[in-house]
Amino acid sequence: MCGIIGIVGRSPVQDRLIESLKRLEYRGYDSAGIAVYGPNGVARCRASGKIRALESKLSEHPLEGTIGIGHTRWATHGGPTEANAHPHRVGRVSLVHNGIIENYAELKAELATKGAIFESETDTEVIAHVLNAALEAGLAPLDALKATLDKLTGAFALAVLIEGEDSLMLGARRGSPLVVGYGDGEMFLGSDALAVGPFTSKIAYLDEGDFVAIDHTTARIFNSEGHPVTRQIRIVAASAALVEKGNYRHFMEKEIHDQPESCGHTLSAYLNPVTGKAILPPGLDFAKITRLQIVACGTAYYAGLIGRYLFESIARLPVDIDVASEFRYREPPVTPGTLAMVISQSGETADTLAGLRWCKSQGMVTAALVNVHESTMAREADIVLPTHAGPEIGVASTKAFTSQVAALTALAIAAGVARGHVSPDDELHLTRVLLESPRLISAAFQMEDAIRSLAPELAKARDVLYFGRGSMSALALEGALKLKEISYIHAEGYAAGELKHGPIALIDESTPVIVIAPSGPLFEKTMSNMSEVMARGGPIILITDAAGGRQAPAGIKVLIAPDCDALVAPLVFSVPIQMLAYYVAVQKGADVDQPRNLAKSVTVE
Ligand code: F6R
Repeated sequence: MCGIIGIVGRSPVQDRLIESLKRLEYRGYDSAGIAVYGPNGVARCRASGKIRALESKLSEHPLEGTIGIGHTRWATHGGPTEANAHPHRVGRVSLVHNGIIENYAELKAELATKGAIFESETDTEVIAHVLNAALEAGLAPLDALKATLDKLTGAFALAVLIEGEDSLMLGARRGSPLVVGYGDGEMFLGSDALAVGPFTSKIAYLDEGDFVAIDHTTARIFNSEGHPVTRQIRIVAASAALVEKGNYRHFMEKEIHDQPESCGHTLSAYLNPVTGKAILPPGLDFAKITRLQIVACGTAYYAGLIGRYLFESIARLPVDIDVASEFRYREPPVTPGTLAMVISQSGETADTLAGLRWCKSQGMVTAALVNVHESTMAREADIVLPTHAGPEIGVASTKAFTSQVAALTALAIAAGVARGHVSPDDELHLTRVLLESPRLISAAFQMEDAIRSLAPELAKARDVLYFGRGSMSALALEGALKLKEISYIHAEGYAAGELKHGPIALIDESTPVIVIAPSGPLFEKTMSNMSEVMARGGPIILITDAAGGRQAPAGIKVLIAPDCDALVAPLVFSVPIQMLAYYVAVQKGADVDQPRNLAKSVTVE
């Protein structure tokens, strides 16, 4: 996590560093800082909290200079204090870091025996000490950097300024992404294309282990062995403009309302509306695939759970799914014919990326279902499966989730066709149903007023339970995650049948239970589970459709979603669970788009 930017510019950099940090705030917002090489050497300014706190400090004490580095932090080692904020500075070295240095304690102990004094609790400061010691030992900047990198284990992207080198910036990447931006007489380093987007669209992605020296016009790139290498310069479409909220109060609200469009765009990559056929990207032949292994984190994992229902029921394709942070430790035996599919909005999540690399190392064919098409996962997987949700800024994933579910539904149909389980007529029917989903998602917005009116009561709860059956049990997990991450109310999601095996003990008059149950074959059983809760006094909010509403018992609150086919119910029923979390968080006055302790892109394991 953490976002970094570096500019070797021709004009003052302070405001440009801040502009870029605002674009990177999705990576963390515990503290921020910049260091600028000015007429009197390198000066820095740091502030705990969001970038606006740094901005207000800079407005009183601006930093002059045309070369500088900046950082927005998601705290790992040490609290979100100013002392722990980057850039860290030791002797001639000022640097910013994204990642985790795993052997920092060992290095710190070694440095301490040599008299090093530490000002922060971070792992990053250790890098600055090691690099400064190498410079003091007489090594040239690049040699000192290489010697430092050789001592580090863990993950990092770095941007470094060295006092006495007023037109040089060093960078390095291992495990965490770093791009080089090529401008007009100016050069840039950044965590991603978005960071350098306002300044250039010409970028090169550093490969794993690369390090780099940039000045105003050139980038000298070296691989981990120190050999000069060239990395392809691409023109990327990362827009220069910051994504705006428009008339919405929060990005999350906007992104919930973006979903008809984001799902529609995503589906147009996988379905031909004229022929009614599913389209697959080159290299993906489901006829040759005997098993699917899905790996993802958080909300993307819940999309994968829905995907498992779809692939198994429509395509009769066996699916294993794992949370990425645990996947490798399970050491699953590899079956020939397995397609490994990682699912990720950012395409940078460290655990998911590690899962992808593990699958590759085992010889599996890999596919990345990603929203950021230039991300590390997209570049490393054999097959890219894009979602077209557009930039998702709210930390709580909404439109990326439904785009993932839409793409997985289309892929499951395609797999069913390829494996001979879906006839041409059925394909036509299923794709028609799926193409209706953007309209049905729009229709679900009509639930908004009813949902908003439930928020004041729900916001008083200390605990909330969600349950559903079938793919709705995955939505129960997603609903609970949405609520807890933005409103800080403790929430848990369960498969409805599991309640009586323990969680029902939690039910009392003050524990609201949200039941997600469209009418259909699983409805009656879910209603029985709901009765078990009612018998114990639990207040219920039932999210169902018109037919389900007609069968709902008296005395509970009912939200009626648009009638829809079971195929698209996960898409349509996502809307009320997202809105419920959103309005409860607004009711509580929470920071909806940047909830505490979280970051949009989780690039540490
Ligand atoms: C929750 C949320 C997270 C992410 C998870 C994976 O709303 O957004 O749980 O889904 O951190 O992120 P990606 O999809 O970028 O790999």
